[in-house]
Amino acid sequence: MERVILDVDTGLDDAVALLLAAGLEEIQIEGIIATNGNVEVAKTLENTLNIAEVASLTCPVFKGADKPFSREPIAAGDFHGESGLDGPVFAPRMRQQVQSENGIDALIRMLNENPGQISVVSVGPLTDLALAIQKQQDILSLAKQVVIMGGSFSGGNVTSEAEFNTYGDPEAAQIVFSSKANLVLFPLDCTHQVTLSPEQLAGYGKINRECAKVFTACMKTYAEKYSNHGKGWPQLHDPQCIAYLIDPEKVTTRYERVQVVTEQGPTYGKTIASATEEKDGVHVAYGIDSAWFWTLVDRALSVLP
Ligand code: BDR
Ligand code: CA
Repeated sequence: MERVILDVDTGLDDAVALLLAAGLEEIQIEGIIATNGNVEVAKTLENTLNIAEVASLTCPVFKGADKPFSREPIAAGDFHGESGLDGPVFAPRMRQQVQSENGIDALIRMLNENPGQISVVSVGPLTDLALAIQKQQDILSLAKQVVIMGGSFSGGNVTSEAEFNTYGDPEAAQIVFSSKANLVLFPLDCTHQVTLSPEQLAGYGKINRECAKVFTACMKTYAEKYSNHGKGWPQLHDPQCIAYLIDPEKVTTRYERVQVVTEQGPTYGKTIASATEEKDGVHVAYGIDSAWFWTLVDRALSVLP
């Protein structure tokens, strides 16, 4: 059983990551932290609670940071809609509500209580993780592994150089990437290998289950937004981190030192990889078995409510 804490900025592909984690029996979600990112934290929290409710999750949901470590917030409403999760319509929540404990404190507490036992998955800006390090320097080393979606080594998706999650909080990303924890990074170089197709969308649209309907509604909006931006069919970035927990052998990685440009200028937020023989690197994913990835989505959607 893979025990996991998820840190999300719930937009459309984050929602799929949550559904995948909820629907795969190998994963036990210990807690979810909603952070500022795709949209402001009030909205990512609302979206996270709604997905947790529809997936019948009983794990605690926490509120994370409401702004980046030091930069001004940016948002990605262009790709996820005004709410961050445009598309699905949710019934009033009966079970899920936010915990009173702050998400950063909850992360620190859970990792200290379970050293080496829990994986952390972060699929938004890395603010919460950096704030946790600021409070307790070795905290991420207490995680079994920290699996992150972010960065790019072949051009960005917000600026020509930077990917959204690292651009959203470059200072936080730099702190996390140099933390010497057991880090795994899914940059755009890998996540661009999993693209939704029109045939798949039509197929998922035929499944008469609540979560499959939410998935389909999210993916319809996501496809529309990508198309409006002239970007073709959309990539499933965040859920690849969840897939990795199930079978890391399906992902090819290289161990590299990763640094983030934190100087203001045209390369702000860019990730740079270099060779390292020290224990100061990150397992960077460069390839994933896309057909296998989709079998996990199929499996999760066939068992979720
Ligand atoms: C990342 O940016 C966000 O908009 C997505 O949810 C994903 O985490 C991809 O660059
Ligand atoms: Ca995200």
